[in-house]
Amino acid sequence: MADQEIVNIISAQEEVYPPPPDVVARARIKDREALSQFAADHPEQFWAERAEELEWYRKWDKVLDDSNKPFFKWFVGGRFNIVHNALDRHMNTWRKNKVAYIWQGEDYSERAISYAELNREVCKFANVLKSLGVQKGDRVTIYMGRVIELPVAMLACAKIGAVHSVVYGGFSVQALAGRILDSQSKVLITCDGAYVNGKLVELKQIADDAIKEAPIVEKVVVYKRTGHPVGWVEGRDHWWHELMKDASPVCETEVTDAEDPLFILYTSGSTGKPKALLHTHGGYAVYTYTTMRYVFDVQDEDRWWCAADPGWITGHSYIVYAPLMNGVTSIMYEGGPAYPAPDRWWQIAEQYRVTILYCAPTAIRGLMRFGPEWPQKHDLSSLRLLGSVGEPINPEAWRWYHTYIGGGRCPIMDTWWQTETGGFMITPLPVTPLKPGSATKPFFGIRAEVVDDEGRPVPPNEEGYLTILTPWPGMARTIYGDPDRYVQTYWARYPGRYFTGDSARVDQDGYFWIIGRVDDVLKVSGYRLGTAEVESALVSHPAVAEAAAIGLPHEVRGNAIYTYVILRAGYEGSPALAEELRQHVAKVMGPIARPEKVEFVSKLPKTRSGKIMRRVLKARALGLPEGDLTTLEE
Ligand code: WT7
Repeated sequence: MADQEIVNIISAQEEVYPPPPDVVARARIKDREALSQFAADHPEQFWAERAEELEWYRKWDKVLDDSNKPFFKWFVGGRFNIVHNALDRHMNTWRKNKVAYIWQGEDYSERAISYAELNREVCKFANVLKSLGVQKGDRVTIYMGRVIELPVAMLACAKIGAVHSVVYGGFSVQALAGRILDSQSKVLITCDGAYVNGKLVELKQIADDAIKEAPIVEKVVVYKRTGHPVGWVEGRDHWWHELMKDASPVCETEVTDAEDPLFILYTSGSTGKPKALLHTHGGYAVYTYTTMRYVFDVQDEDRWWCAADPGWITGHSYIVYAPLMNGVTSIMYEGGPAYPAPDRWWQIAEQYRVTILYCAPTAIRGLMRFGPEWPQKHDLSSLRLLGSVGEPINPEAWRWYHTYIGGGRCPIMDTWWQTETGGFMITPLPVTPLKPGSATKPFFGIRAEVVDDEGRPVPPNEEGYLTILTPWPGMARTIYGDPDRYVQTYWARYPGRYFTGDSARVDQDGYFWIIGRVDDVLKVSGYRLGTAEVESALVSHPAVAEAAAIGLPHEVRGNAIYTYVILRAGYEGSPALAEELRQHVAKVMGPIARPEKVEFVSKLPKTRSGKIMRRVLKARALGLPEGDLTTLEE
């Protein structure tokens, strides 16, 4: 961290933004402290009351079952399908004619779909899935661009009790193949292509290449977005529109159990193999519904824009499930934030009179570089709240976002959470006084504590590990197919507590300041990547014998990937080979993992047991002290 940045953070701690009176006047929750106290004293009652706001086929017998820790269960005995709450129940109200999604393509094409129309598409696609042999509990991999059919596919799976596994459309062959194999998906849903930053992403081609490595896929459904020619395997591949033509729009929603699996979502950890976090219908629904309602205070007249990708947890929770359960109108935009010009987002916000914008600090930092004249071209007066997610937001970006996007009127909800947590964990509410760069305080019913190596709470303003003390309904239930790894990764380091993998500080006012990951996980432009995944992509190239990857601070992206490579005998390091290796990583993993730099070395710092000491590489690259080297081999 640069010195200036540290000064900024220290001063931000003293800089407090009280909530504007009009925001307080309309806020659903006016007294945060009182409700926090109630939820802390009566967590099960608090969550049961929230669950009552949704519709159950059969009410639960027990709110929380903690008899088999850490495999907690919520709303045990309840019969509940999230799709009944996201769509079916709105069909009996005026809301069926409300717009669910307003969509804009990067090519400026537009679509709007009402709740009733969305329901009809979901019913039809659910019948398509059944006709392809998909049954309750089966995994279906979804690999699509940002089109309305992506939520349609997810909801159709959930409706029939199948388990979706969405793979972000920016991932490439190896990442997709690994996830198909691990989840044992026989059906893959994709697009012919997608438009991002003016370029065509060949999703179908990547899918075809992935299936060569994962030949268990029997059926592929292809949504036509671009119309460019694609390869075709007769019998295996089917056009979305052809299957939908004759599909019946009538489909009963499966009466699932509250604890039945809803989806798996892969995320990076400290090994080369991503983890499939499993979320269930009941608890996840109650948690995402409630967090969105209280944190963003959503009302019927809102136009909500979560600018994430549906392929990440942010999109699952706050583009698809929570907005639909809350009956909100959402904006969805297909392409890049600065395409064709740096005011593309601000044009969209103005055009659709967006009232709440929720995005990542990396996007803010990227757009900030172009200067305030770009947002100033647009009338952003419809905005009333802003949000931030994915990585710490530096005070400078916070202030720019607040001043130039929010016009100084809109509080920023800096929400800290993870794929594993399902929804917001540490977050402001509209009535919370804000400090730029702090996610403020734990949500209702969440007990968070920052501790040292031994699990003892650290004093105010000291850095430590962020842990969560009690269960919450939105927590992932396990790692699909690997419950031992679930226990080891999250529950073994501090018995009885959930270990987040993040470090943090709590200041004298009880405000949490997230510092960053303490494991071998990197946040690059808000995307979560494992250094081990990048290393294994590098060693899959014939020239590479060994590789190490680290993250170094980057002004816009938060972190940039730097790699150190030992070549096999017979290969000579050159700028051309370095470039080839960068492209190789982008090809096998996806462009988001493309290293900033490939450096050729003859040795790597290792422990005597052969583990690469990435901390030493990082210290060397930054010119910092190398710390304790007693375990270093040479
Ligand atoms: C990691 C989780 C949560 C949805 C998107 C990311 C970092 C997330 C914040 C924030 C500081 C944040 C943490 C966390 N992170 N939100 N508001 N302030 N850091 O989900 O890909 O599972 O990544 O993102 O390091 O552990 P994810």
